[in-house]
Amino acid sequence: MQPFQNADIIRDRGAAHIAAERRIFDLYAAHNAGGHDSLFPATIRAATLSHGWGLVSAPVCAEKKRVSPETLTIRRPDDWHVHLRDGAMLKTVLPYTARQFARAVAMPNLNPPVTNAAAATAYRERIMAALPAGLRFTPLMTAYLTDATDPDELARDFADGVFAAAKLYPAHATTNSALGVTDIRKIDHVLERMAAIGMPLLVHGEVTDPEIDIFDREAVFIERVLAPLIARLPTRKIVLEHITTRTAVDFVGSAGPDLAATVTAHHLVINRNALFLGGLRPHAYCLPVAKREQDRLALRRAATSGNAKFFLGTDSAPHPVKDKECDCGCAGIFSAPAALEIYAQVFAEEGALDRFETFASLNGPRFYGLAPNDETLTLRRERWTAPKDVAVDGGAVRPFLAGQPLDWRLG
Ligand code: DOR
Ligand code: ZN
Repeated sequence: MQPFQNADIIRDRGAAHIAAERRIFDLYAAHNAGGHDSLFPATIRAATLSHGWGLVSAPVCAEKKRVSPETLTIRRPDDWHVHLRDGAMLKTVLPYTARQFARAVAMPNLNPPVTNAAAATAYRERIMAALPAGLRFTPLMTAYLTDATDPDELARDFADGVFAAAKLYPAHATTNSALGVTDIRKIDHVLERMAAIGMPLLVHGEVTDPEIDIFDREAVFIERVLAPLIARLPTRKIVLEHITTRTAVDFVGSAGPDLAATVTAHHLVINRNALFLGGLRPHAYCLPVAKREQDRLALRRAATSGNAKFFLGTDSAPHPVKDKECDCGCAGIFSAPAALEIYAQVFAEEGALDRFETFASLNGPRFYGLAPNDETLTLRRERWTAPKDVAVDGGAVRPFLAGQPLDWRLG
C-alpha cells in the first residue's frame, strides 16, 4: 500500500464546486417561486446540509434520491464510540446520547484516563448518576491502554465484565492521549492476551510522526501499524475507529471478519473543505481530521452498504466553545444532539433507509457478540432545526450542524 499516491491523484475540482453551488441556489429559487413541490425539498435540503459545511453534493443526492417512507422504525441503536466526559459536561451531554442509544461504548480518555477497574467502576457510577430519570441506558466501559498495562489485570477485568474493550491511543495522537502507547510493540504481550480471550481492541488509527502529513496519518497507520499487527496476530477482534479515508474503507472491507470499523455522522457529511469554509472553522475540526470528498463518498458507500464490518460510532466529542475557538483549539465534534437524525438523513440521501437498522442497530452488537436491543424507536420525516449552543458550566458547547435544517426527527 502506498498512501502517498492517494494524495497525488486529486484534480482541482474548484470549477465543479462553484457550478454545483450555483445549482443549490437555483434549486432554492425554483422551490421558493413554485411553492412546495414534493420533488425538490429533499434534494435542496440535502444540498444545503452539505453546503453549510463546505460541501456541494446536490448532484449526487439528486441522482440517488428515491422515495422514502414517512416514518422509520428500527431496533434501538447503540453508539459504539462516544466521549461522555465527566462532571458538568457529562450531565449536559449524556441525555442526548441516552435518548437515542440503548448502549454506548464510553471512551476512557478522561484526565486522568480510565486505566483500571476502580477508575472504570467509579466512572460508570458517575455516568449512571448523571442519567435523567426514565431513560434506560447502559454504558460499556473501555480500558485506556498504556505502555504499562498489565495483561493479567486486563484479562481479569474483561472476564468480570468491567471492561467491554480496550482502547489504543497512540501517545499524543489526540485529546488526553499523552499517556497512550508510545510504540505498539511495547504492548504486544497485552494484545496477544486480548486476542486469546476475544477482548476487542479499539484503535485510534493515526500515526503521530510529525513528518507525516496530517491528512495521511490514517493511511500510514494502516500501512505501518495495523497491517503488521494483523499479520502478527491472526485471530483478534479489532475496531478501527472513526475511519475517514477510502484507504481505510478498502482495507477493512478486504480484511477478515475480525476487523471492523465505526463511521461517524460528521465524516459522512463534511469533507476537509468544511474546515476552511470562508475562514477557519474550529467546530469542524476533529481527529482524524475530515479528508477529501472522494473519501467522504467512500465512507457513505461503506456505511450504507449493509456490510457487517461497518457500524455506527458517533465519536461525539464535546469541548467548551472557548476551548474550540482559541489559538490552539481542541479536536472534537459534538454530534450527540442530532446524531441519529443526521445518519438517517445520509441514508435517505443515499436511498438506503432499508439498510439503516443494519448499520445502526445490528452490525455493532454482532461484532461485539452481544444481542441487539429488543426495544424499537421511530424516526419521523419532519423538518426541524438541529439544536444551537447548549449551556454548560458557565459557557457553551456547540452541536454539529447547529441551527441547520434536518429532515428526520426522533420521537
Ligand atoms: O476529535 C476527536 N476528539 N478525536 C479524538 O480522537 C478524541 C476526541 C476527544 O476526546 O475530544
Ligand atoms: Zn473518539
